[in-house]
Parts: sequence; C-alpha cells; structure tokens
Amino acid sequence: MEKILLGFEVGSGKPVHMRLHHTVVVGMTQLSGKTTTLEAIISRSGLKAIAFITKRGESGFSKFHFIPPFYIERSDWAYVLSLLEAATREKMKFERAWIIRASKNTKRLREVLENVQALKKKARPDSLSENVYTVLEEYLKMIVPQIEQFSFSSSLDLQEGINVMDLSTMSLEMRSLVIRAVMEHAIQNMDGVIIIVPEAWEYLPQGRNTPVKWYAETFIRKGAAVHDFLFVDTQDLAGIDKAPLRQCDNWILGRQKESHEIDRFRDHIGKHLVSDEEIKSLALGHFYAYLGDVIKKIYVLPADVPENVGVKVAMGELTSEYVKEHFMVKKMDEDEEMYKQRFEDLKEKFDEEVERASNIKAEEKLEEFGKERVQAVIEEAAKQILEIKKQHAEQIKKLKDELAKADELIEKLHHTDEEIKAMEEIKAAFTKLLPTSAPAPMLPAVEGKPIDLEHIEQPISLSHSEQPVKMDTGTDEGKILYAILNLDMTYPKPEGEALGYDLNTIGAEMQEHGWNLGKVMRFVVGSMIKKGILVSQKTRPIKYRLPKYRIIEVEKIGK
Ligand SMILES: Nc1ncnc2c1ncn2[C@@H]1O[C@H](COP(=O)(O)OP(=O)(O)O)[C@@H](O)[C@H]1O
Ligand SMILES: [Mg+2]
Repeated sequence: MEKILLGFEVGSGKPVHMRLHHTVVVGMTQLSGKTTTLEAIISRSGLKAIAFITKRGESGFSKFHFIPPFYIERSDWAYVLSLLEAATREKMKFERAWIIRASKNTKRLREVLENVQALKKKARPDSLSENVYTVLEEYLKMIVPQIEQFSFSSSLDLQEGINVMDLSTMSLEMRSLVIRAVMEHAIQNMDGVIIIVPEAWEYLPQGRNTPVKWYAETFIRKGAAVHDFLFVDTQDLAGIDKAPLRQCDNWILGRQKESHEIDRFRDHIGKHLVSDEEIKSLALGHFYAYLGDVIKKIYVLPADVPENVGVKVAMGELTSEYVKEHFMVKKMDEDEEMYKQRFEDLKEKFDEEVERASNIKAEEKLEEFGKERVQAVIEEAAKQILEIKKQHAEQIKKLKDELAKADELIEKLHHTDEEIKAMEEIKAAFTKLLPTSAPAPMLPAVEGKPIDLEHIEQPISLSHSEQPVKMDTGTDEGKILYAILNLDMTYPKPEGEALGYDLNTIGAEMQEHGWNLGKVMRFVVGSMIKKGILVSQKTRPIKYRLPKYRIIEVEKIGK
C-alpha cells in the first residue's frame, strides 16, 4: 500500500510511484488537473477519503458518495479556548480563567453563550475580561444558531473511495468547525483516512487562525503514523500559511500563469530545473512532482485509464486532451454543469454589484452636475407650473361648459303633460314587444297585507380619462422613451404581447441617435418606472417596456 503509481515520467514513459504522505497539489483550475490527480491517488491507494463541498455545485470528483455532515458539539474549556483563538488570531493564554468559568458545567455551546452573556454583564466596563467575553459572545452568536439549525451526524461512516460532505449552505465558520471535527475524529478513531482540505487560503490562511488551521499541525504530526493524510488542493499558494504545508512530503505542481506563483513554483523545485515559459505552458495532467527528495516531470494517470495510454501521453504520442475526450467524457459534462452554475452565481453577483455601483455612480454624477442640474430642474419646474396653470384654466373652462349643459338638462326635465303621455304610450308599446315571462311559482298564500317591494338598480358609472404624457427628446427621459418607441417599431410585437428591452439594448439604440447617458441611465429609468412611464418586466436581465394603456406623445423637435 505504501508506494502507489502516480503517473509516468515525461519523455521516458517510466512509471513514477509515490509514497503515501501528506500531499499538496497546486495548479490553475481546469487547466492543470488537480482534482483528477487526487482522485487517481486515492483510488489507487485503496484508502477512504473525505472531501468537502464548500460552494454550490462543486465536487470535481467523478466517483464519490455523499455522507452527512459530521459534527460533535463540545463545550469544554479547551475547545472554547481554541474557538476563541481561531476567532481572534491570537494565543489567549492569560484569559483561560474566564473561559473556564464560562464553560463550566455546560454541555452545549448555547449554554456557554448564555454564561458568557451573564459574565459580560458583570464584568467591569472596558476591562480585559469584558473584551474577551464580547469576542466570545459574537463568535458564539454566529455559530450556535447554525449548530442548532443543521442536523449533524455524530458518527462518521465512510464508504470505499471518496466520501463527500456538502457544507455549501453553511457559513465559513461553521464549515471550518465541521472540517476540524472530522480531522480530530479521524486522528482519534480511524486509520487510513485521507482528508482533502478545500480552498486552502480560506482554511489555512496566512496571519490568521481558523479551527482547521489550529488543528492542522496536530493532524499532520500525528497523522502519518496512523496513515491519516492531509491532501491540499489549491489553485495557488498566495495567502496560504506555509507552516503546515512544510510538513507535506509530496508536492505536485502544475500549470501557473501569474508571475508570483511561477516564482513560488520555481523556488520549490529549484530554479535551474524549469523555465517560466515551461510552467506557463504545462499541459493538462502534466506536473512537476517533488516526491520525498526526487523531482520528476510527469503525466498523471487518471483513475480507470489504462496504463499504456498514460505511457503514450508521457512519451508524447497522445495528448492529455485526447485522454480527456475519450476516457473521461462523463466528468467533462459534470464540469461544464459546475462551471455553468458558477458562471450563473458570478453573474448574479456581478449584476448586483453593477446595480449597486451604478446607483452610487448616479448619485455621484448627480452631485457632479449638481449646479447645472439644479438650474435645469428649476427651469423645468417653472415650465411645469406654467403648464399646470394652463391646464387649470382649461379645466375651469370645461367645468363651466359642463355647468351650462347641466342647466340645459334641468330645463329639459320640465316635461310637459303631453310629453308624459307620449312616454306612457311608448312604454305600453314596449311592454307588448317583450316576451311573456314564465308563470310565477305557486307560493303559499300569505295572510295579511301584501308587501310592496321596491328595488332601484344603482347604475355604476365609471369615468376614466387617459392623461397623455408629453415628452421631448431634449430630456433624458424623452431620449429613453424615444429609443424604446423606435425599438418597438423595429421589432413589431406579436399580437397582445408587450415587448421589453434590457438596458443594453435601449442604450445601444440611443447610441444610434448619438445619446449616451452612461450609468445615469439606470437611474433615469428607475424614476420613469416610479412615474408610470415605463414598466419593468421581471426577466433576467430586467427588461423595460412602455405601459400598455398610457398614451405617450413624443414631440420631435427640429429635424
Ligand atoms: N491527467 C489527465 N488526463 C486527461 N484529462 C485530465 C487529466 N487531468 C484532468 N483532466 C481533465 O481536465 C479537466 C479538469 O480537471 P480537474 O482535475 O477537475 O482540474 P482542477 O482540479 O485542476 O480544476 C477535467 O475534465 C478532467 O477530466
Ligand atoms: Mg479541482
């Protein structure tokens, strides 16, 4: 079990074996083949491995089993102290007394939190103990609800191969606690387990403590004796604490692009061995492997790929892309799915940021053009007041006209007797024309007075008058409206359907007229929606269209 096949030496095609030990694989995502390398090692080692999904949609392995997240809650003072150390970046030797007091007679962190809150109240303001309790309180407030929210398994039942825990819905702090609990449990109870630390820069960061980092050195020190190994899979080494990694015997270094990473790569294996150019162009599955004290350039043989195929790639007779295409089709699809997912996540974030940034920008811009704008607004307001006055006068005239009509009506209502008689006749003629109604159902005879029932229908009269919006393209709003109207003409809408356009489309149309509102556009569109001149459609990206029933008159000035 000790020596396992890693791959084949580039050039000679000779097999390269490695001794199982803590291992670091570094290289650019998707272009180096790190996860495939770890999977190959695990599958040929025959050991069980535990990996963690920390972001939605990502596992990277082609064969694995899901297992439930494992965590055993502890509230002893040593554990609480380590949480505090992880949260504060410092060793906190002298505060032990307070931690011991806070965790005394507790079984759960919830109780520790309650103790901490009580002790904090009693502490002298601004004293060291108050500070310690404050830090601890904040940290526990973050962790305790999650411990209570997720149902953790308190046993770690592993299957053959790679076991994956999905921690993607937990906070970084909680994930860190879970990974650390798994490491600790493995060291204490299990032989022959590989633990894959994801996102090393988050869990083994430089200059900061985390529960994982806090325990990693112990794991590395004690692990090798019981065949428990740490595998680190990372894109680059920036921001990662090198102390725990120094204890790793196997380094497998793949393609890099960024110059600091290239330097770190070369520092690792000796500057004379490899050029910057070569590091930049290392092909998929090709690595410099520093195993114990030998360095070899290799092609890693993925799990389940025949050895003779691997030899051919190492000897340059086949490419790794060929292997990827012909032997690893399934994983490619999964990767695509994962990248699609990631792309969507990123895009969502990006859109949010753009939205946020453009709001800020819009505000800034407004300030920048403040004076000009204020002037324009005053002029606009003056114009509007005039307009309102005009409308007012019209309104009054209309009312007067209506009054006159009403007088006329009242006049007409003074019917002469003759007219009433004529009306009676018409009524009688009408009644003859009407169909005779069905016989009334037999009702039980009711004694006493007949009931006179009178019912008067109240007609509903609804009046609605469309208020036309008048705009001209001298204003930003007018420009946007004009662009949308033009788009509507260019893309005639299917019957009954309202077309909408996203900001880019509207912006592009405006450009055709030589108008560019830049980032202010989003702001203007927002205010148009508020005024009911535009309607936003909940599409992605958001589309904007004209309201179906508003009459919009665009006045073309000039031309
Ligand atoms: N040695 C290899 N030979 C052929 N294809 C490989 C090899 N290593 C990785 N691949 C393919 O390249 C893609 C990226 O591999 P992966 O191991 O997920 O990269 P990373 O973990 O570095 O992002 C996957 O589609 C995988 O199947
Ligand atoms: Mg990977």
